[in-house]
Order: sequence, then C-alpha cells, then structure tokens
Amino acid sequence: MTTFLYKSDPARGQLWADVFRRRAPEIDFRIWPDVGDPAQVRFLAAWVPPDDIATRFPNLEVLFSSGAGVDQFDFSMLPATLPVVRMVEPGIVNGMVEYMTHAVLDLHRDMAQYRRQQAQGLWKPLPVRTAGERRVGVLGLGSLGKAVLAQLVGLGFDCAGWSRSRHEVDGVQCHAGTEELPAFLARTDILVCLLPLTDSTRGFLDAKLFAQLPEGAALVHVGRGPQLVEADLLDALESGRIAEAVMDVTDPEPLTSGHAFWTHPRIQLTPHIASMTQPLSAAEAMLDNLARFDAGEPMVGLIDRKLGY
Ligand code: GLV
Repeated sequence: MTTFLYKSDPARGQLWADVFRRRAPEIDFRIWPDVGDPAQVRFLAAWVPPDDIATRFPNLEVLFSSGAGVDQFDFSMLPATLPVVRMVEPGIVNGMVEYMTHAVLDLHRDMAQYRRQQAQGLWKPLPVRTAGERRVGVLGLGSLGKAVLAQLVGLGFDCAGWSRSRHEVDGVQCHAGTEELPAFLARTDILVCLLPLTDSTRGFLDAKLFAQLPEGAALVHVGRGPQLVEADLLDALESGRIAEAVMDVTDPEPLTSGHAFWTHPRIQLTPHIASMTQPLSAAEAMLDNLARFDAGEPMVGLIDRKLGY
C-alpha cells in the first residue's frame, strides 16, 4: 500500500485526511509522527521535512511543500533526484488575490493618509485618481503574480510585471531579466513583491532598487522577509522615495519586539497571513497532482532545483 505522509499542522491534516479517505481510499494517509512503515512512504507533504529524510524514507518518490514556498527546505539534505513540488491550489491563489486587492485599493485610495488625518481630527480631501492613472508593478509572475495581475487589470489599474524569464499576461506590460528591471521600476507607483526567496532575490529590495521608483511610490511586500534590506526601506521612507509600505513578511518572523517596523507611521504590518494553504482545496489539488505523477505527466508546481523555485 502507498503511504502519503503529512507533516504540517495536524488539525489541518485531519481535513486533508477526510478528502483522501473519500477520494483515494487506496492511499494510506498518515499524519506525522504516525508514519507507519517508513518503507511504504512514497509521498511526503511537509512544511519542514525531517532531517534524515533520505535514510528514513528509502522509497520516497516526491516531496511536496505544504505551502507556496520551498525556501524553508534545506536542499543539501534532500536526495539530488527527488522531485520537489510547491503548493499550487485555488485557496492560496484566492487568498493572495484578496489580500492584494485590499492592499492596492487601500494605497490607491490614500486610506493610510486618511487614517492618520482622522487621528489628528483633520478633514482634508485629497485628489481622487482613477485606477487607470495608477501604475502597479508586480515582481514575480508565477501562479500568484498572474492571478493578482488578472484581478488588478480587471479593476482598471495600469499594470506591469517583471520576472527573471519572459512571460506573457493579458493586459500587462511584461518585463524580463535585469536589463528590463529599470524600465519596469520607473513606471511603478505601487510595487508588489511576490518573488520566491532564492540566492538571487535575497536583498533584492534595496536602496538601489528603491532609487529607481518614482518619488512617493508604495511597496507591498508579500514575498519573503530576507528579500528586503530593512535599513534601506527605513531610509526610503524617511526620504519620501517610498511613501507607504505594506508588509506581510519580515526577517525573522515573528518580528522582534521593539523593532522600528512595529510603530512606523508609514508601515502597515500583518503577521504572514496574506495567503494560506486551504486544506480542502489543497488536498484535492494534491490528489490531482498524484494522478499526474502516476500517469507520468508533469506535476503542477514542480520546482527546478537549479533555480530554487
Ligand atoms: C506562505 O508563505 C506559503 O509559502 O504558503
């Protein structure tokens, strides 16, 4: 019998188990630490896999991340040929679209400024701009970036995207590679970071990048904490290069107590909740992926170990 081992939040695991029982009773679905016979484990879905994965599960065929990212994996501990798959499922995508719609509209309609004005008892209308006059730029054109852009295009924003390799997205000016980054940044009023964390995106959001944005731009950071050079953001907020920042990720998490971000008047902070794997839709997507794997078809979310995403 095939064992599918789940090693993440156990309460959510129970919901996965229900879906597996209903749709795939032939699979022995187990929740860590109840691994059963380790030799039967063909599939592992984990946020953090056990260190001794290679020796403990000699017949493991695929490692799935229980979240959208795989940067929490220590690839040096994983067998070199083991396929690694990140989570792509409608619940994560929809959550990110909701968060981003909220953040971008909040920035677009100057809500942070109105909250500050209210606190001062100040009744002061600001010019109302149309969405078409607001240029949004999304860094990262994976499944999340594309879904966010489709929503923002639908709301009428002037949208562009940037990614390492060339992509096409309806209604979006797509930029690719380092050479096209300056043009992308120069036209971006609201910058959204949805990049995966890799060696080339660590420290990506730095002073050099901020300097290429228009004066008074806004940042929405939902990638990973280590992509941001914190001191450079504080300087950019101080100089007015960046007017507002919305951040869902920090380094470390939780953000340390007393950190400047907690109380900064131009930073809105959320505790890494922009989007989360939804157990029911994730288990359904997982079973679809297992069927693809067993049929020898490419799995959705299969990562390129050389690129790290
Ligand atoms: C959250 O950040 C995830 O990777 O799912």
